[in-house]
Amino acid sequence: MPRIPDTFRILLIGGGGREHALAWKLRQSPRVERLWVTHPENPGLGALGDPCEAPLDLKHSFRLERFCEKERVNLVVIGPEDPLAAGLADKLAAPGRAIFGPGAEGAKLEADKSWAKQLMRSASIPTAESRTFTDPRKAKSYLETRETSQVVKASGLARGKGVVVADSLDEALEAIDRIMVQRAFGDAGAAVVIEERLQGPEVSVLALTDGRAIYTLEPCQDHKRLLEGDRGPNTGGMGAYCPSGAVDDAMMSRIEQGVIVPAIDALRREGVEYRGVLYAGLMLTPAGPKVLEFNVRFGDPECQPLMMRLRGDLAEILYRAGAGGLADADIDWDPRTACCIVLASRGYPDKPETGETIVGVENAEAMEDVQIFHAGTKRDGEGRLVTAGGRVLNVVALGDTLAEAREKALQACDVIHFPGMQLRRDIGAAAPAIRA
Ligand code: AMP
Ligand code: GLY
Repeated sequence: MPRIPDTFRILLIGGGGREHALAWKLRQSPRVERLWVTHPENPGLGALGDPCEAPLDLKHSFRLERFCEKERVNLVVIGPEDPLAAGLADKLAAPGRAIFGPGAEGAKLEADKSWAKQLMRSASIPTAESRTFTDPRKAKSYLETRETSQVVKASGLARGKGVVVADSLDEALEAIDRIMVQRAFGDAGAAVVIEERLQGPEVSVLALTDGRAIYTLEPCQDHKRLLEGDRGPNTGGMGAYCPSGAVDDAMMSRIEQGVIVPAIDALRREGVEYRGVLYAGLMLTPAGPKVLEFNVRFGDPECQPLMMRLRGDLAEILYRAGAGGLADADIDWDPRTACCIVLASRGYPDKPETGETIVGVENAEAMEDVQIFHAGTKRDGEGRLVTAGGRVLNVVALGDTLAEAREKALQACDVIHFPGMQLRRDIGAAAPAIRA
């Protein structure tokens, strides 16, 4: 078992609302001596951490390596998928330094959907029937033979937007053109996965692991569509709450035994010791839970309600996942429900407009049981808070019930304003019933 340091010197990589929530929770640990962030221009991160002077340049990571050496960083927390897929966890690994996040091989679970599907098949993990194509003509011919509706997915990383749930054959064929021929997502569209369309409520189940021990976090409910009533295009996520009532204890153990444990075991058989967090996006179909996707990082926005409820020393927990010894981690939960609502820019997800002045954040922050995490904001030349991305702010509230958490989050949203602000007021409004 690795020795757990008395104090932590942490480098946190990533610049969105997920990383702000991680930084906020890490800062609650009295054992965090230093915290460096790669995106101090995010005002939430800039207020909690010192700027890391090395750039986040995935082609020249030696400067980050040198920074970690010089500052004696003993824990690196990698938030987003891109640096994981690029192998940053492999590059920054060093004796006495824990890396939270898998190496490039493990990250293929998210970065190469076709590979992930093969792994699932080899481990008998329930998932939609699928085929992979690298030739658009063959992909189209296959679609023409299908009788039920299909889902077309770019095999590579596309920020949650490379998935088309097609309502008609025409729509599916069009998706092939957009992804494979026009390359709307670049090389991520060199291959596509075509799979059967599943039905049922969706849940996100995330598990921490050191490659052996597994600790499943409380289930979350994401809201991927842009518009209320689950309409409109898919986004990175417009809101999430935790825990999700769709997963009771029996369903949770089915997911652990049927999905999480076999996935970690299958990775180990492939020679991958997976360390970090494994995210299973699941659909609870009439035939049982099935995997829609794996991610190799915390969900955004799922991480925000999770951090609001997590009790324990996050620095030690993440260190134990990165270095081994997770089985001895002390983790507990606030019994209340956390509801997170995303405030997005006009034009999100296609062409978000930025540079709009944001007002009211301080007033919202002053509300009880409410936290505001910065996702895409910055200070302009005059020090005003302005929008700087598609997803702008995450408003998270705790309540004794989901209805109460949702009500408080909405009240906090109502004191914040920027031109073109989009939000879904129905996050958590149509909670699926508990299913066995
Ligand atoms: P993914 O990024 O693979 O999770 O896909 C994004 C969203 O598309 C999911 O959250 C689902 O809402 C939807 N989706 C993906 N795969 C399927 C499927 N096989 N059947 C139905 N919906 C799906
Ligand atoms: N909220 C979905 C994701 O992080 O992929």
